[in-house]
Amino acid sequence: MDKRDFLRTVGGALGGATLGLVFTPAQLRAFSALPADTLAARADFWDTLRTKYRLPSDFIHLEHGYYSMQAEPVLERFIGHVRAVNLLSSRYMRTVQGTNKARVQARLAALAGCTPDEVIITRNTTESLDTVISGVDWKAGDEAVMAVHDYGAMLDQFALMGRRWGVVNRTVTVPLDPRSDDEIVQVYANAITPRTRLLMVCHMINITGHVLPVRKICDMAHARGVPVMVDGAHAFAQLDFRIPDLGCDFYGASLHKWLGTPLGAGLLYVRRDRVEALWPLYGDEGQPLTSIAKLNHTGTHPVHTDLAIEDAITFHEEIGIQRKEARLRWLQQYWTTRVRGVPRIRLFTPSDPMRTGAIANVGIDGMPPGELAVALMDRFQIFTVAIDTAGVTGVRITPQLFTTTAELDALVRALTLLAS
Ligand SMILES: Cc1ncc(COP(=O)(O)O)c(C=O)c1O
Repeated sequence: MDKRDFLRTVGGALGGATLGLVFTPAQLRAFSALPADTLAARADFWDTLRTKYRLPSDFIHLEHGYYSMQAEPVLERFIGHVRAVNLLSSRYMRTVQGTNKARVQARLAALAGCTPDEVIITRNTTESLDTVISGVDWKAGDEAVMAVHDYGAMLDQFALMGRRWGVVNRTVTVPLDPRSDDEIVQVYANAITPRTRLLMVCHMINITGHVLPVRKICDMAHARGVPVMVDGAHAFAQLDFRIPDLGCDFYGASLHKWLGTPLGAGLLYVRRDRVEALWPLYGDEGQPLTSIAKLNHTGTHPVHTDLAIEDAITFHEEIGIQRKEARLRWLQQYWTTRVRGVPRIRLFTPSDPMRTGAIANVGIDGMPPGELAVALMDRFQIFTVAIDTAGVTGVRITPQLFTTTAELDALVRALTLLAS
């Protein structure tokens, strides 16, 4: 087999986008006229999607925020990639590995709304954002801005920069129910000084589900000469946006959350003009300093995971990002509106729906979050996660697109009973 035939064979076996992973053409036609907000409540549409997942039968799964399971069609393709790469082994690595990764990267860039030279595939948000944090040419006394609600791994990495280089970390507290976006922007603005070199902001805070006005924060920071790094772990493939429209300098996300890839897939976006000044974590003298590829010297890694990103994108696009965003917010609103105002029940999630998505957090006064999580699981077979940090003392509830209203009704009943 000559090289071209070989490439074609492997490309055909491993890649390629086909429609029909989720819906039949007739189903798609039937629902295409409905606006996303109307469709959000149409059980028949989402029940069809539900059949594409193999779900546990002995508990109600409301913790899809850590790692969201792959749909069966994506999982099957992933397993196919594992087999195909295993069969060809070194030959795969030495021939088509790079071509295939470049194709997947281009597809990911298109999904993110940027060009392929601004995106690399990483293992997760932690790797993406820590690459940026440690890549800044820090000097003692330089400052960074972040929030108490930010993710621990990134806060740890900034703390490390503090110990290693003498970086001063300024931490703000974001109000849960701001009067306006400007109130939040001002909180970040107040923390900026002439020594600020980087500002980190979460697109969607993982413990509260709060969606922050990232564009406005970026504009404010840029007006003061400060680059912005956005933690998009939960926003990417959940909210309808294009990364360049946020105006940020750096964006990191995990694809194993809302894109539904296999575990261990992420993206890092670096605005083209920000690449050169960033130090890579792993040296790569073969890449120009201006190429984002210099940040991606990963060594030998599970390339079949990279390949499955393409399948997950195909699956995601068949559903549609507008529909996903509308459905996830609708599900969250479905249960939060039923418990808001119930005595002893407290929500740690903004009341304005447009500041939220799938995630919400609920506590019961006088009940530690750990106890609440155990009670929900042991007494009601509802799996959640306890959050007890930064003034947030509840359990995080994260439905998925296929979560049913019956499951959320069970949650509402359990919470009401526990609070009574
Ligand atoms: C806001 C936020 N940032 C970063 C991360 C880290 O993601 P990963 O473990 O995939 O790197 C998470 C994980 O839940 C998160 O919620």
